[in-house]
Amino acid sequence: MPHRARTIETQIRAYDGASLIEAATLIRAGEPVAVPTETVYGLAADATKETAVARIYAAKGRPSFNPLIVHVADLEMARRLVAFSSAAETLARAFWPGALTMVLPRLPDCPVAELASAGLPTLAVRLPSHPAMRSLIAAAGVPLAAPSANASGGISPTRASHVLASLGGRIPFILDAGPTSDGVESTIVRPDAAAITLLRPGPITPAMIEAAIGLPVVDPRQAEGITAPGQLESHYAPSKPLTLNADVPVEGRFHIGFGPGPCQRNLSATGDLVEAAANLFATLHEADASSFSGITVAPIPERDIGIAINDRLRRAAA
Ligand code: TXA
Ligand code: MG
Repeated sequence: MPHRARTIETQIRAYDGASLIEAATLIRAGEPVAVPTETVYGLAADATKETAVARIYAAKGRPSFNPLIVHVADLEMARRLVAFSSAAETLARAFWPGALTMVLPRLPDCPVAELASAGLPTLAVRLPSHPAMRSLIAAAGVPLAAPSANASGGISPTRASHVLASLGGRIPFILDAGPTSDGVESTIVRPDAAAITLLRPGPITPAMIEAAIGLPVVDPRQAEGITAPGQLESHYAPSKPLTLNADVPVEGRFHIGFGPGPCQRNLSATGDLVEAAANLFATLHEADASSFSGITVAPIPERDIGIAINDRLRRAAA
């Protein structure tokens, strides 16, 4: 059954020319592969394929769709995805390749799956320095979406053995290039014209960023008024009223189906939850842009990646 968590054989292979080609072949086939970066091991998949990105969430068992970091092999690849402001240019020159992730506006023709940015108009991009990750991106020829390669709720893996312990049986391949050097996830910033907002602290410190760019680094966690970490989260919300768990279509509403039955658009006619996840954000955008006055969504089973679909739908409806 497509929605059952499968147990598959996980190969763990030392990083060399032959294993790199095998990993790139799996990536091109839409499979997720664990690969080291200088920070932590990432679970990488073709960022331009919605289904490949959905498989990352499915393998991690994430109960929600957090937007993912998209990794590029060079600055040229990044320029095809997002708009670079002059502040972003300065930070890229100072810290790339390396452990700095920038959240930047997606270009109108950005080829990255909407699921990777969880439907947001922005994309988190990073040019890593680790040769295994950079070679894999280059060999696959596509940007790679990659969260840390651990099951949801687990700690970030800094060795191939950590990945195997956490995701063994859930992913096909681990590229082993030894322990990672930085050990904590990359620093995430949003560069604006007047200030740099720190979204996640990491190896590149605020002092390093201020010295490189001459702009203040603002940490919203220390700003007044924000008490709950959840307030920092941004998520996609349609402009039209959204009703969940609608068993049947409602006159005048764009009905998003799941499984057999009449609808304007089906997330998965066969009831495949991974396929539904892959179609989720593009379908919400289509429904929001339609001439219908509201949106209804069929019930989605609360299991496997359906838990993440329902989490995002509830936030979008709130
Ligand atoms: O070091 C790292 O960054 C590792 C390695 C594998 O590169 N990757 C990693 O990815 O930590 P992940 O998916 O675990 O972390 C992504 C973080 C999340 O906290 C998410 O909220 C934030 O990036 N993020 C991604 N896209 C965003 C966006 N468009 N706006 C705001 N935050 C975003
Ligand atoms: Mg993580």
